[in-house]
Formats: sequence, C-alpha cells, structure tokens
Amino acid sequence: MNPVKIDSGVRVYVAGCGGMLGDAIYARLKTAGADVKATDINCIESWLEYGDVRDLVSIRKSIVDFAPELIINLAALTDLEHCEYEQENAWLTNALGAENLGLIANELDVPYVYISTAGVFDGARDLYNDFHTPNPLSVYAQSKYYGEQYVFNSVRQHYVLRAGWMMGGGPAKDKKFINKIYKQICAGVTELCVVDDKLGTPTYTVDFADGLCAVVESGQFGLYNMVSNGSASRFVVAHEFVRLLGLANTVKVTSVSSSYFKEQYFAQRPVSEKLLNLKLNQRGLNRMRDWRICLEEYAEVFKTDYASR
Ligand SMILES: NC(=O)c1ccc[n+]([C@@H]2O[C@H](COP(=O)([O-])OP(=O)(O)OC[C@H]3O[C@@H](n4cnc5c(N)ncnc54)[C@H](OP(=O)(O)O)[C@@H]3O)[C@@H](O)[C@H]2O)c1
Repeated sequence: MNPVKIDSGVRVYVAGCGGMLGDAIYARLKTAGADVKATDINCIESWLEYGDVRDLVSIRKSIVDFAPELIINLAALTDLEHCEYEQENAWLTNALGAENLGLIANELDVPYVYISTAGVFDGARDLYNDFHTPNPLSVYAQSKYYGEQYVFNSVRQHYVLRAGWMMGGGPAKDKKFINKIYKQICAGVTELCVVDDKLGTPTYTVDFADGLCAVVESGQFGLYNMVSNGSASRFVVAHEFVRLLGLANTVKVTSVSSSYFKEQYFAQRPVSEKLLNLKLNQRGLNRMRDWRICLEEYAEVFKTDYASR
C-alpha cells in the first residue's frame, strides 16, 4: 500500500483534465492545496498545458519533468459514435493512452488512477458489482476495457475506477446526457423524446472527485465501481431534470424505445449498465450520494444559466 494524502503541496499530474470530470477533479485537488499539473489536447483553460496521451515520448517528458506523486488519467474519446467512426484513434487514446501512462507510473513507482466505464458490460444482467465479468459491445467500451485490463494487470500501484452516466461540468463542458437535454430545451423544444429501455447509474463528477481522493488516500489498490447511489432509465433522469428546472408544465418528456434513435445513436449500448459500489461500501470508502440529490445540486447550475438567457 502507498496511500497518497491529498493535501497541501502534493504533486498530482492529471492527463485529459479539460473535460467534464477534469473540471471537478481539478477543483477538488486545488481546494486541498495540491500542486497540480493538468494537461489535455485542448487547452481551453489557462491552467491547462498541452499533453497527448497517445505520444509516449512527449507525455513521458511532461510527466517526468513534473515528478508527480500521483498520476490521474482522464484522457479519452468518450463519444461512442465518434469511436465507431474513428476506431484507430479510439484505440490509441483509450487503450494505448492508458498503457503509456501506466508504463510511466511504473517507471516513477507512483500510484496511477485510470477511469473506466460501466459500459464495459453487455447488459445481460440487471446490476453489476465490481467482480462481474465484462463483455464490451462497442469500440468505446472495448478500448476502455483494454485500458482497465492493462492497468489492473500491469501497473503495480493501480486504481481502476468505473464510472456510469457522467453528470458534471455544466453548460460549458458537459458533453453528455444532461447537457444534450438542456441544449434542446434552450433551442425551444417543448417535447423531449427520451429512451426508457436503457438503464444505468448517473455519476456526479463532484462526488466522484471526492471518492477518487478517498480511495487514493486509503492506499487500497484495485478496481472499484464508483457511481452515484441508485439507478434509473434515461427517461426517468430526463423527467427529473425537467422537473428540477421548474419546466414540467412547459416541456413534455415522452418515452420512446432505443429504435427511435437507431440512426443517430448507432453504436451498440447495453440494456443495463447499472453498477453497485460493492467494494467501496464494504471498505467504508463510498463518498457517492444518491443520484437524485446530486442531480438536484447539479441542476442549479443550469437553472442559473437558463434564467440569464
Ligand atoms: N462521460 C461519461 O459519461 C463517462 C462515463 C464513464 C467513464 N468515463 C471516463 O471518465 C474519464 C473522463 O471523461 P470525461 O467524462 O471527463 O469526458 P470528456 O469530457 O470527454 O474528457 C476527456 C478529455 O480528454 C481529452 N482527450 C482526448 N484525447 C486526448 C489525448 N489523446 N490526450 C489527452 N487528452 C485527450 C478530451 O479532449 P476532446 O474533448 O478534444 O476529445 C477531453 O478534454 C474518461 O476516461 C472516460 O472514458 C466517462
């Protein structure tokens, strides 16, 4: 075990920090007083430096020069259809990128955090714990599964954290479901068609960042499911979000089946990607709140944005 205390001056390298999870993790680390080097291929913030996880030579230099005590890899291509179109890039980013940073973590002998996804499962079960066997369906899921396998098997000080349907980053950075719903509302759509045959577990980035720190501070290496507590269909999440925005009387949420979106969302998705934080619960490390409480907190950002329009 090599617990890393997330407090003043601890040196943390975060790759792919320009995205929705990076936003929360950077804030959490800075609040603790950590010395953070945050990189991404898109330097959309003044605190980001350029770093491409596909390029071993240059990312190695970027990391070694900083001499971190902890490496966190958030870099990924997360759009499932994009991964089907750009398969080679998906493998290079999600799989080789995971491997590259794993090699560097072993060389420096420091802990390494890799984020995987609930999407590694095929949906044949209703609910997956940390020990169930994955069977990834899409290129995104396959490349992420390769990453988690590599890290689990080859990186000495590893944490593989599986997230679910990510919620975070607000209107500017959230690339996923909540912001897709919000953008439609802003565009004046008064009837939202949302699938009711896909089940999963929302995952609030703010809680995830907290949970990540708790696990790293425990020094208990391994693979963990880390999702908000509870589960839902996409339809239920959209319905709740519209209600929290105070728009239940003006925006109707209509349930449809996945076949309704079969051309737009053609990558294969599991019927259920519901996760249970079995290990976190057992070890007393679960910092995740119920997804409805998280969504209520997260919706405030969108309410403020909506009011300013
Ligand atoms: N979003 C989800 O629903 C979800 C669910 C489960 C697990 N995860 C995992 O959580 C982690 C964080 O993802 P996120 O939700 O924060 O997604 P995100 O918002 O897409 O963030 C990923 C970041 O990585 C960047 N990136 C892409 N290729 C890169 C490269 N070659 N080198 C360095 N950076 C690169 C992306 O830039 P571009 O924007 O230019 O691509 C983006 O800024 C990922 O490992 C992801 O697989 C996400």
